[in-house]
Amino acid sequence: MARPVRALNYYGSKVQSAHKYPAPRNALIVEPFAGGAGYSLHYGRGKGSDRRDVLLFDLNPEVIGAWQYLIATPGAEILKLPLLRVGEGIPQDLDPGARLLMGWSLMMCGAHTQSVLVPSATRVPSSFWGESKRRNLADLADEIKHWRAFVAPYWALPHEVSATWFVDPPYQGRAGKHYTHNSSSIDYAHLAAWVHSRPGQVIVCEGPDADWLPFERHHEHASAPTADVVGRRVSTEMIWTRGC
Ligand SMILES: C[S@@+](CC[C@H](N)C(=O)[O-])C[C@H]1O[C@@H](n2cnc3c(N)ncnc32)[C@H](O)[C@@H]1O
Repeated sequence: MARPVRALNYYGSKVQSAHKYPAPRNALIVEPFAGGAGYSLHYGRGKGSDRRDVLLFDLNPEVIGAWQYLIATPGAEILKLPLLRVGEGIPQDLDPGARLLMGWSLMMCGAHTQSVLVPSATRVPSSFWGESKRRNLADLADEIKHWRAFVAPYWALPHEVSATWFVDPPYQGRAGKHYTHNSSSIDYAHLAAWVHSRPGQVIVCEGPDADWLPFERHHEHASAPTADVVGRRVSTEMIWTRGC
């Protein structure tokens, strides 16, 4: 199976834990709350026959803009993007999509892009925008040319598509408050009805306090460090599935 690659250093990403979730039973993966698209990065990359098609949707244009740029741009072009020194900002004259892609790699993990490379980049250079990350993203760009990404709310997606739906919304309550489009703007009763109406395989992720579906305990997860937390936070991940 493909090695984990973080395309976006995204808060709440499933990139390190994707392999713990049920594998897709469908040739198409849909992520209606895409963010860093950890599940699709695990199961939807590559050139072989086991590769799946991938549709990404998210309300945040900074998320989808980065994905659209990565999907549309040859790896050889990504390799030409400039490297930055700590404290240096992304050049203003770059393609807006390139600025977004780089902006998701200037901090260890966040829910918003940054414009300047933070000092901690010198401690774990491979996690931040630098030679190794740029090379990984260039390789990745050439493995996801069959993906598509759109800015759209989950409820506007075509419902007749039979797929593996990996549904990872902002978690109900405090844990889901960090995003630009966060838990306070989600009607979880509506989301529950929408989830039930999906044809095919459905995997829904949540935290331990969620009550909008009969979630079951699934695994413990050590999240990536963030600016406000020293060390790793361990959380209990819950899931609800159908058709797995
Ligand atoms: C928990 S994150 C997804 C993390 C992702 N699974 C990953 O591996 O990085 C939730 C995402 O839902 C998006 N979002 C919030 N409200 C939304 C809505 N109504 N429709 C679509 N996306 C939404 C946020 O912008 C955020 O990117």
